[in-house]
Amino acid sequence: MAGFEQAWQELAQIGGGGAGGYHRFAWTPVDLALRGWFQEQAARRGMAYELDRNGNQWAWWGVPGPGAVVTGSHLDSVPGGGAFDGPLGVVSAFLAVDELRERGVTPTRPLAVVNFADEEGARFGVACVGSRLLTGILAPDDARALRDGDEVSLAEAMRAAGADPSTLGRDEQALSRIGAFVELHIEQGRGLVDLNAPVGVASAIWPHGRWRCTFHGEANHAGTTRLADRHDPMLPFASTVLAARNVAERLGALATFGKVRIDPNGTNAIPSRVDAWLDGRAPDAETVRAMVDEITDAARTAATGHGVRVEVVPESTTPVVRFGDELRDRITTALGGAPALPTGAGHDAGILSASVPTAMLFVRNPTGVSHSPAEHATVEDCVTGVAALATVLEDLACE
Ligand code: GLV
Ligand code: MN
Ligand code: MN
Repeated sequence: MAGFEQAWQELAQIGGGGAGGYHRFAWTPVDLALRGWFQEQAARRGMAYELDRNGNQWAWWGVPGPGAVVTGSHLDSVPGGGAFDGPLGVVSAFLAVDELRERGVTPTRPLAVVNFADEEGARFGVACVGSRLLTGILAPDDARALRDGDEVSLAEAMRAAGADPSTLGRDEQALSRIGAFVELHIEQGRGLVDLNAPVGVASAIWPHGRWRCTFHGEANHAGTTRLADRHDPMLPFASTVLAARNVAERLGALATFGKVRIDPNGTNAIPSRVDAWLDGRAPDAETVRAMVDEITDAARTAATGHGVRVEVVPESTTPVVRFGDELRDRITTALGGAPALPTGAGHDAGILSASVPTAMLFVRNPTGVSHSPAEHATVEDCVTGVAALATVLEDLACE
């Protein structure tokens, strides 16, 4: 318990926290501090440190090579994020190494802890950039050209942080070493509360994606432009938000507009342009498609009614993930039973699952709240999660 709390407190200092939540964005000074923390954890444990071609950090127990059992998650956050989404998986991974050493376990396979770069996509818009690049799902040129809200490209941000963007791309060597990847993560719903279990195993991840909706209107004076003369992009945007909610409800899906950029963003100016990002998710890809099509139609109809032009452009899509039965059954057996449950949240494990055997452990979240400063798990459940992860790693790395 004390070991977990101490490790947790060290990391908690970096990048905000408190009522405003964490602001841990890729390739910022905060990210560099988090990366320094990771390197320090590796050094303390005598684990060999590596930065791969895509900005993902690795710490190795044993000689890096094929058949490795890999665990970890990410350290970045959404704007105003909680402490657990991502960091719980990385802290638990290092503590699981400690636990295995305390148990006197000597793995026969190499074991690695990983911190995937830019999982949330909070700065550059695309989620899971590190794992998408590693697996080749994201083309290196597309990644380098991603831009943040200040028009800084990912390539420029990496260079400013002392990293080399020229090496980005599918990393056959790094991938071929992974025998199995197991990501521990706080649950982002109340599934385990309802099941009365501290730890569960992921069965599936809903397909999901991000679409940028741009409404082009006409800037004008808020005090002198008659309502009939306006081309106000805010109005079709508002209709689209309401349509998204209605369509999602009808189709049993989820639609969220959580990020908006308004130009010129002045109280006394009719906006010239609204950029809004739609996050869409559903149990199956057909429903996501149908929902986004309907929302797009609603946006077009509303835009036409206000003399506004609208574009809807996909920025990233992730197919449904069904974690393989073989690894999941093995993990469930090693744990002496654990409930399996699906999630609507995206993870690096979902991206990796298309390339290597992958599984996830979830730790109970008493309120289900996530992507919020109120995100929480009890120390008892976190410690149970570390022990469960250690047991799984022992089973996988000692055959
Ligand atoms: C990541 O946390 C996501 O589901 O967007
Ligand atoms: Mn998240
Ligand atoms: Mn996460």
